[in-house]
Amino acid sequence: MNDWLWYLSRSTGIVAAVLAVAALVWGLFFSARNTGTRMKPNWWLALHNWLGGLTLVFIGIHMLVSFLNTNTGLGFVDLFVPSNTVGWAIGWGVVSFWMFALVVLPSMAKIRRRLPRKAWHMVHLLSIPATVLTIVHAYQAGSDSIETYFTRGLALLVGIAVYPVSIRLIGIAQRRRALV
Ligand code: HEM
Ligand code: HEM
Repeated sequence: MNDWLWYLSRSTGIVAAVLAVAALVWGLFFSARNTGTRMKPNWWLALHNWLGGLTLVFIGIHMLVSFLNTNTGLGFVDLFVPSNTVGWAIGWGVVSFWMFALVVLPSMAKIRRRLPRKAWHMVHLLSIPATVLTIVHAYQAGSDSIETYFTRGLALLVGIAVYPVSIRLIGIAQRRRALV
């Protein structure tokens, strides 16, 4: 039984990490207005929202399965509070979970409509450190983290995210220069 839970906790963690990077990339391309001409910007935003929502769903399943897998020794409180007892390999996962919750929940239409745009946007940018902490968590807690294929996979995810971050930052710098 624990074998199945182990596979399930790993696979849901990996899917959540890939979805988070995909949501990040789609969000950055949309905000940078770098969406090309083949698909309408709305298509990018709608897919971004789906990817973002699914990220939190998979994080939830990953947390639940990690808790049910008694080999991890995680108590219920450990899912929500990082501690030295459990260790920071899991602690970074807990911190990134809270950050993703802050990114996704206030983005739900009903809540977002009531928030000032600037405040919502500042909170939404937590998605970037949240993704970084996810990679740290996967690197430190992953069963295969010393295997080359695993570290290459993580490096690939980082590489994929760096490109749209750069495009977005360059866009912001160009707009600022145009205003001066
Ligand atoms: C259901 C959940 C989500 C919704 C409804 C949502 C909504 C949005 C919207 C409307 C924008 C466009 C902001 C603008 O430029 O006007 C955006 C941008 C963005 N989103 Fe999300 N988002 C969600 C989840 C996520 C997640 C999980 C991540 C990251 C893992 C993420 C990362 C980003 C990033 C990086 C941007 C670009 C921000 C910028 O460069 O200014 N979002 N999101
Ligand atoms: C309360 C929050 C979290 C807890 C308690 C938790 C728990 C765990 C545990 C116990 C492992 C080790 C699995 C194993 O290899 O035996 C793990 C690995 C992993 N977690 Fe999490 N995690 C949390 C948050 C997250 C988040 C937010 C993400 C992604 C968005 C994530 C993605 C991963 C990945 C990719 C691995 C590596 C899987 C592997 O071993 O191949 N985790 N997590």
